[in-house]
Order: sequence, then structure tokens, then C-alpha cells
Amino acid sequence: MTKILIRSDYLLPGGDNWNIIRNAELLIEDTVVSYIGAQRNYPVGVIDRIIEGKNKLVMPGLVNAHTHAAMALLRGYADDMPLMDWLEQKIWPAEARLTKEDIYWGTLLAICEMIRGGTTCFADMYFHMEEVARACLESGIRASLAQGLIGLDASQGAARLEDSKILVSDWHGAGEGLITIMLGPHAPYTCPPQYLEKVISIAAELSLPMHIHLAETRGEVQDCLDKWGKRPIALMDSIGLFKQQVLAAHCVHLSEDEILTLTQRQVAIAHNPGSNLKLGSGIAPLAELLERGAMVSIGTDGAASNNNLDMLEEMRLASLLAKGSCEDPTVLPARKALKLATVNGARSLFLKEETGLLREGSQADLIMLDMDKPHFHPYHDLCAQIVYAASSADVEMVMVKGRVLMEGKKLVTVDEEKILHEANERAVRLTR
Ligand code: NI
Repeated sequence: MTKILIRSDYLLPGGDNWNIIRNAELLIEDTVVSYIGAQRNYPVGVIDRIIEGKNKLVMPGLVNAHTHAAMALLRGYADDMPLMDWLEQKIWPAEARLTKEDIYWGTLLAICEMIRGGTTCFADMYFHMEEVARACLESGIRASLAQGLIGLDASQGAARLEDSKILVSDWHGAGEGLITIMLGPHAPYTCPPQYLEKVISIAAELSLPMHIHLAETRGEVQDCLDKWGKRPIALMDSIGLFKQQVLAAHCVHLSEDEILTLTQRQVAIAHNPGSNLKLGSGIAPLAELLERGAMVSIGTDGAASNNNLDMLEEMRLASLLAKGSCEDPTVLPARKALKLATVNGARSLFLKEETGLLREGSQADLIMLDMDKPHFHPYHDLCAQIVYAASSADVEMVMVKGRVLMEGKKLVTVDEEKILHEANERAVRLTR
């Protein structure tokens, strides 16, 4: 058993406890936190490795609850366009040229960025997901992966469902639980009710959660009403989607009733403020959702509509946007924002292992921030400094499942230089 000891000037356990522990110590045995608290003395030879955190802060790793990692290859390729033009003229034609290898390298590009920004776990929906799984396993980042399912064409829809089943048997639980699989019906407007019913029955049969886009734009809600006579949330409820565990991305355009339905059915909601703003989709009713007790987490969405995968920035944006749109600075205070970006994210992925917080028995998914920077001083309230002042450049060390992925700002499990080179070459070919 490998024993790693982290000593840190400051430590935030997270979960419901955002009180700083000074001069803290965290003992990790293999993948699990076995002690957290005041520093102790150990006999010589008991500890395999000590990581010293002078002027550093240790906290749970950030969880990106909704993204399309490989879209990092299309970052900056098409911006400032109306959503449908953006998809039809730019994104879909480029995606049609994506090979399996492109997905692998594009995902690795996203993983480099996510690790550098303190993300230890993410929920992904895309295609060729076995390549995404391979990239995650190699890099050591935790992920919950869903093959995007589109059911507009019956035979293609059925084929993609078969791919999903193969993905489940090959990858669900791989890397000793590092990788888990969800089913990924893309959205109500790409998956008609009949097709969704098939997906739901397979999710029930295999006991898998589902990851879906819901109520992202006003147009989507209107089209759904015109076509099916119901708004998206009501339609999904009527066909039994919410009887299973569901991670719903966006949920921007919601009625009072829909907020109630999502809360009562315990649907996990991934809030994507950056993408919703950039695509002009609108502003999700975050304060109302939280007031009702909804399970809300934070996602970046893909890098083609954000344009980064920076969870510290996304957490700050979520908090500021909620305050500004409600004209109320008490909405989404710093500790609550931290909770959304960590433990709520982990719970929204329905993982069996305990992640998103640090306590005895939880997985050692954590990050270390360098607090010796002007923008952190003075140390009045370190939680507020992290939410309102920190940047991804402050992340110094990242660990997932007890394995160090970045140390001294150097990525140690992947060849970053080669990844940037491959990604650039491939991006040129895709968009030529
Ligand atoms: Ni999305």
C-alpha cells in the first residue's frame, strides 16, 4: 500500500464544511483519504512520499458537470454566430470530418487544460467515446462518459444505442472506478419520444444514469410545444425519463412548474453560464432552482461555445450572474458556489465512490493552490478569494485517486508538448 502525506498551511475539507484547517495534514493510502486533521509525527519509513504545501491550500478537485471535451479542437473556429448557423455552417460539417484519432487527441487537449485548471473529474457527451475513455485512463483524470445518441433516423439511432452497450461492457468501472458510463440521449429535439423510451428502458435494465441537454433555448421550448404539445420538461416527465437518474445540462428556460418537477424528481442540473451567455441562450433561473432545493452543479460545455474549460472562472461567473440577474448580492455566496463546483458536481455524476469532498474514506481527488500571490492577500476569507479572485494559473498540484497528475505546474501523466502539436495539426485539417 502506498502512503502519501500532504502537509499544507491551509486545507478546505469541502462538502458541508468550508472552514479552513490551518497547518493541516492529509494522509492518502493508495486511492483513499485515511486521515485529515492536525499534523502528526510518523516513525521513519512509514510514509512513502511527503508533499509539502508551504503557503499552499488544499481543497477538493473541481468537477466539470457538462462538456464535450474533444470540441477543444474547434475552439475559436466559429464564434459570434446565431446558434443554428453556428451548428449547420460550421460545427456539424467540421464534426463530420472528425476521426477516432482526432477525438482521442482533442480529448487529451481538453484534459491538459482541465488538469491545469484544477478539474479532477468531468461529465462528457460526444462520440467515439472509447477514444475518450482511453485518453482519460492514460491521463488519470476521472470521467463519466456518454455516447451522444441521436434518434432522428431510426437505424442510426439503434446503431448508436448498440455502440453505447458496447461502451458499457468495455469501459464501465474501468481504471478501478475511474471511468463510468452514462447513456447520452442528446436532447428532446434530436431524440423523439419513441426513441427516448427505448433509451430509458435500457438505462433501467443496465442501472445507468442518463446525460441529456434540456430546455437550452427559447426556440427549443417553442418547437417542443408546437410538435408534441408539451414543454421539454413536461414531455420528458410524461415519458418517464425522470424515473431514472438524470443529469440535465442547461435547464435555462423553465416555468415554475418545471422547476418543481426537476426538484421533486431529483434531476441533477448542470448549469453552464458561460456557454448560455456566449450562444445567447439566456440565463438559467439558478436562484429559484437553489431556493427550491434542486441539485445544481456547474459545467463549461464544449470549448467551441465557452471558449475555455476553466471551472474556477465558470464558478465565479455562476455566482456573479446569479447576483446580477436577481439584483441581490446574497444569492450564491462563495461557499455555496464552491459546493456547486465540487461535491454537487460529483453527486450529479451518480458515482459510487465518494468524491468531491475530502474526509476519511473519500477518494483522494484534490488540488493544491499557490496562495502566495498578490491577489490572494490579505487572507480575510480564503473561500471568497478562491471564488472571486483565483485563476487557473494558481493551481499548482492535482491528484486524482491518489495519483499525482500535475506537480509544480508540470503535467506528469501526459506529454503536453506532443498533444498541443497533434491537436494543432488536426484542427487545421478539420477546418480546411
Ligand atoms: Ni452541451
